[in-house]
Amino acid sequence: MSADSLNTEILAADAAGVARAAELLRAGALVSFPTETVYGLGADATNDHAIAQIFEAKGRPHFNPLIVHVPSSDAIAEIAVLEGAALDLAQAFWPGPLTLVLPLKPNGPLSALVSAGLPTVAVRVPAHALAHRLLEAAGVPIAAPSANPSGRISPSTAQHVLDGLSGRIAAVLDGGPCDVGLESTIVGLEPEPVLLRPGGLPVEAIEAALGRTIEGRQTGAAVNAPGQLESHYAPNALMRLNADVELPGERLLGFGHVDAALNLSPSGDLVEAAANLFRFLHQLDADGDAPIAVSPIPDHGMGRAINDRLRRAAAPRG
Ligand code: TXA
Ligand code: MG
Repeated sequence: MSADSLNTEILAADAAGVARAAELLRAGALVSFPTETVYGLGADATNDHAIAQIFEAKGRPHFNPLIVHVPSSDAIAEIAVLEGAALDLAQAFWPGPLTLVLPLKPNGPLSALVSAGLPTVAVRVPAHALAHRLLEAAGVPIAAPSANPSGRISPSTAQHVLDGLSGRIAAVLDGGPCDVGLESTIVGLEPEPVLLRPGGLPVEAIEAALGRTIEGRQTGAAVNAPGQLESHYAPNALMRLNADVELPGERLLGFGHVDAALNLSPSGDLVEAAANLFRFLHQLDADGDAPIAVSPIPDHGMGRAINDRLRRAAAPRG
């Protein structure tokens, strides 16, 4: 059977939908599900074959490490070591849009493909009622990258998932649009906390909880992961950032008090802008390939994660 020949099931956000999604996951199939950040492409993290299929379906060029999702921090003990500053952050922010890169538990149940051979594993407890019910019903840790073809814009609706992966995955559980709209913040422990990816939890909140500032570490890092590549999250059209005005032929993706057909947040609210970002990029993609100019976005709070995604979307294409 070719990778594109599946009849992708669209499952409703009810008891039957959750039960079917959990059944498929336990059988080793790929199921996309909503979280508060973006839709994930889930598979049983203990099943090598299921995890290998994630890379195949996304067209990921390498076995990059994946984030493992569990219903509560109690479920971490079996797979990873949660202590010290990591435990403080887990207690402060889980469930929520925070991923922690923790030491792997020796001889644990996870497929080695999940952590791409590293001695660490990225884990998170999502704050999304439907995701929680699915993780409980599945009864196994679920590895899930964002449910988009490699290098493309992350999905914040079930339709985005289908646009990119229909026929390549068993099912999508439709829980409506994601509240946060961009991926989780990733913090590594080396052993001090370092910021590996800005995301849905503002770094200022993490620093406030720890009572100190934390360093960022991105490109050139030990892990060559897709969210850390220069060009990523890319629409088809070229993008120009920090644009105060739109040039002839450009389409303006606005922010704040500017006149734009698509405005991330006319009132200048960064949380609203984050929630709209990927949806608007998908929409611009569907509407043609005229270049996109983007208004300046303040670089604090959720603005840091928005600017990170915009820089990658605008980066020279490989
Ligand atoms: O919000 C999210 O985090 C979404 C939802 C579905 O949970 N997931 C997501 O996964 O964004 P993905 O695969 O698109 O991004 C995973 C990132 C990679 O960029 C990789 O750098 C990092 O997680 N990662 C995973 N395991 C790691 C590890 N052991 N060490 C360092 N980074 C790791
Ligand atoms: Mg991704």
